[in-house]
Amino acid sequence: MKVGVDLEQIKRFKLPKTSSLIKKIFSTKEIDYCFAKQKPEQHLAARFAAKEAFFKASGKKTSYKKVEVRNNKQGKPFLFVNGKKTGLLSLSHSSTHAVAFLVLQ
Ligand SMILES: CC(C)(COP(=O)(O)OP(=O)(O)OC[C@H]1O[C@@H](n2cnc3c(N)ncnc32)[C@H](O)[C@@H]1OP(=O)(O)O)[C@@H](O)C(=O)NCCC(=O)NCCS
Repeated sequence: MKVGVDLEQIKRFKLPKTSSLIKKIFSTKEIDYCFAKQKPEQHLAARFAAKEAFFKASGKKTSYKKVEVRNNKQGKPFLFVNGKKTGLLSLSHSSTHAVAFLVLQ
């Protein structure tokens, strides 16, 4: 079993939906999810943390967009890598920081 954790500053993610950085890092589904929320930057930071947590846990660096967070109807987050559900993920955010914790089985 492997674990990865990452903490991100939310203010770094105060970016417009159409910015090239957002498009480079996040999938269309992630962008739609985050920008439907009152404070998109909180959710963007949490997703970025999840991607970094995956890189730490797996020891592999792949493109950010291939590592995607999707939420179920209850809001629970799941990590997909190249479209395949991977590991066990938990996210949390305060007003300033977002954290992701990932377990790879
Ligand atoms: C789920 C819950 C614990 C989130 O806690 P919170 O303090 O409001 O918010 P946090 O910042 O700690 O966490 C937010 C993240 O929790 C995750 N989350 C949301 N719903 C979740 C759930 N049902 N199970 C696990 N994780 C959940 C999401 O990843 C969310 O971030 P995201 O929207 O960017 O993906 C809270 O909404 C709660 O207690 N809800 C009541 C219980 C509940 O909804 N149960 C599920 C219904 S069946």
